[in-house]
Amino acid sequence: MDKELVIIILAAGQGTRMKSSLPKVLHPIGGQPMLAHVIDTAEMLSPKDIYIVYGHGGERVISEIDRPSIHWCLQEEQLGTGHAVSQALPTILPEQKVLVMYGDVPLIRADTLKNILLALKDNDLSLLTVEIKNPQGYGRIVRDDHGKVCRIVEEKDADHAVKEIKEVNTGILAADASALRRWLNKVRSHNAQGEFYLTDCVETAVLEGGAIGAQICPDHTEVMGVNDKLQLAESERIYQRRQVEQLMINGATLRDPARLDLRGKLKIGQDVTIDVNVIFEGDVSLGNNVFVGPNCFIKDAVIAADTQISSNTVIEKAAIGKGCRIGPYTRIRPETQLGKEVHLGNFVEIKKSIVDDKTKINHLSYVGDSQIGKRVNVGAGTITCNYDGAYKHLTRIGDDAFIGSDTQLVAPVEVGKGATIGAGSTITRSAPEHQLTLSRANQVSIEGWQRPAKKKD
Ligand code: UD1
Ligand code: CA
Repeated sequence: MDKELVIIILAAGQGTRMKSSLPKVLHPIGGQPMLAHVIDTAEMLSPKDIYIVYGHGGERVISEIDRPSIHWCLQEEQLGTGHAVSQALPTILPEQKVLVMYGDVPLIRADTLKNILLALKDNDLSLLTVEIKNPQGYGRIVRDDHGKVCRIVEEKDADHAVKEIKEVNTGILAADASALRRWLNKVRSHNAQGEFYLTDCVETAVLEGGAIGAQICPDHTEVMGVNDKLQLAESERIYQRRQVEQLMINGATLRDPARLDLRGKLKIGQDVTIDVNVIFEGDVSLGNNVFVGPNCFIKDAVIAADTQISSNTVIEKAAIGKGCRIGPYTRIRPETQLGKEVHLGNFVEIKKSIVDDKTKINHLSYVGDSQIGKRVNVGAGTITCNYDGAYKHLTRIGDDAFIGSDTQLVAPVEVGKGATIGAGSTITRSAPEHQLTLSRANQVSIEGWQRPAKKKD
């Protein structure tokens, strides 16, 4: 039977080069901490357990990652990668197999890891390596005359000839827990950095007569480490590129794949078109034929089929029905639900409101804490006065009502079905169904009135 898999993720390093108070592995890629990506990829392999080795001050890491299934192992002093793995080993059973991953290598793919594990069937130690033009800083893979890996030499311990080697260690490796424990017991810190190197297991295994499998990762972007803000930004772009490629494979039309950022999950129907400079966050779903115009920000929203969202629209925590026309410059705030074929136009802000089918709020309005029926026309400049300084109050508008322009609806207030509100009204009491209600000072004209004028000298 296949041995049970456990995964150790090393994440105790300080990350000083990030120059940030945020622990390195919490810096986001695609809106998620990079460590969360590593965990997600690890979970795709269905391991029995995942161990994360974390360092001092890592309580923040534990609380922000917040995954109850993870085993956290504290490495009080960062004495090297070998020492880090040793922190997790005591609770791992000797008959389990171990895969080591790095918390700051977030773009690794599950298929690559599966290949490393597969190679463990014929080897005692399975390594992932990569060939790079500038290998500076990495551990070099030293192979013998037959091409077999015999050891890994860290940059700081390498002589000139070794430094020339372009094949480097990615850090990702797999071995049986019992073998790892045996090798690590023999690892010493007699090296340039005075650290216990995990990489020294290679030489120890070879001395035992063990077989080393090394696979070269064809895509070097997968094994890119993130040590500073430049690499963070580079990794972000690679991550985004992967996501937009998947979106296009799924049928989305992207006007420019380089100008779309996805910081979460995006579900799309057929014939979805997304214009440039759009950002999606959290969980967003777009139905068939949805169009999203340029410069929109959409977070945690469900947008039903045939809806058109014009430029510069912001939508957050909302559900939008079929065939709506939104924007340009509309702001839809949390807890808003729009029915079918609703029109919201420019400079309309709507919050915690339910708007039923075919209602139009087309210009310069604030609608908060409201329930608006079907086929209502809300005139330009209409505002719900929903807040009395202490409490929020509800505004209800019945089907087919017509709210004249520049109306203030002082909540709590109700406008009946089919009611008409005269333009410029301040409505403080309920307006009955099918009647005209208006509150407006009488218009007067003063005959013979003259405008003040400056005296001529
Ligand atoms: C390590 C490898 C090197 C490889 C490179 C790939 C060793 C000795 N060297 O070097 O061969 O080419 O990664 O990026 O393994 N960590 C701990 N505790 C520690 C030390 C490190 O948890 O005491 C973690 C770090 O958080 C990081 C990972 O281990 O996620 C690698 O550590 P780092 O110091 O970046 O390794 P390198 O010196 O770059
Ligand atoms: Ca180091």
